[in-house]
Amino acid sequence: MSKIIAANFKMNQTPSETIKYASEFLSKKQNFKSKVIFCPPFTSIYCMAEKLKGSTAKIGGQNCYFKNSGAFTGEISPKMLKDSGADYVILGHSERKTYFDESNELIGEKIKAALANNLHIIFCVGENENERMKNIQNSVIINQIKNTLKNIEKNELKSIIIAYEPIWAIGTGKAISPNQAEEMCKLIKEFINKNYNHSQIKVLYGGSVKSENARDLFKMPSIDGALVGGASLDIEEFMKIINAAKNI
Ligand code: PGA
Repeated sequence: MSKIIAANFKMNQTPSETIKYASEFLSKKQNFKSKVIFCPPFTSIYCMAEKLKGSTAKIGGQNCYFKNSGAFTGEISPKMLKDSGADYVILGHSERKTYFDESNELIGEKIKAALANNLHIIFCVGENENERMKNIQNSVIINQIKNTLKNIEKNELKSIIIAYEPIWAIGTGKAISPNQAEEMCKLIKEFINKNYNHSQIKVLYGGSVKSENARDLFKMPSIDGALVGGASLDIEEFMKIINAAKNI
């Protein structure tokens, strides 16, 4: 089955660095079936989208506001993302919650606005280390989904991908075991199926995905792909992750 492999560049790369990265990507053999989505910083979206036009790769933003325009200094709207060449947007990333105080309610509004602009959503959920130690990760994840998606209609779920990203595994090198990741991705799928009667939801795993652990994660039946941070910045390493999804 083909996988979805999304790159979250976070606050890395200038536009010229992104153009160089995109050229390197295009110079690699594109004989993979996975859907590849690059989420560079806002300033690199347009140039990356132009550079990758005609390839199978898609572009995404890492955040957006919930209005299309107006007096919101410093914000970027979903309409702007779409017009810059993005088809996806990451919303609810734990770094947005931790450093910019984003609440589930706000993320829900952003999801609505992004959907109204025909963007696909990569909606992130995840428990922190303390919650994992207390073994309450299941209820934490379910509550995040319930509270964030409370105004989302069933038919809108087809444009939403959920990324399960345990916070303690993000950027720490402490990846979860494939079995633990499978358990959580399965839980998310079962919850969405039971509560929204939607069995097709795609669930990615994110948090210290590297070429060494990617294949074992991709082999898990409930894991539809990965959201890759740090390891996506090195094109050689990212290509290895893409290639790890071959023939699974
Ligand atoms: P990481 O980040 O791969 O660097 O752990 C993943 C993410 O934050 O999406």
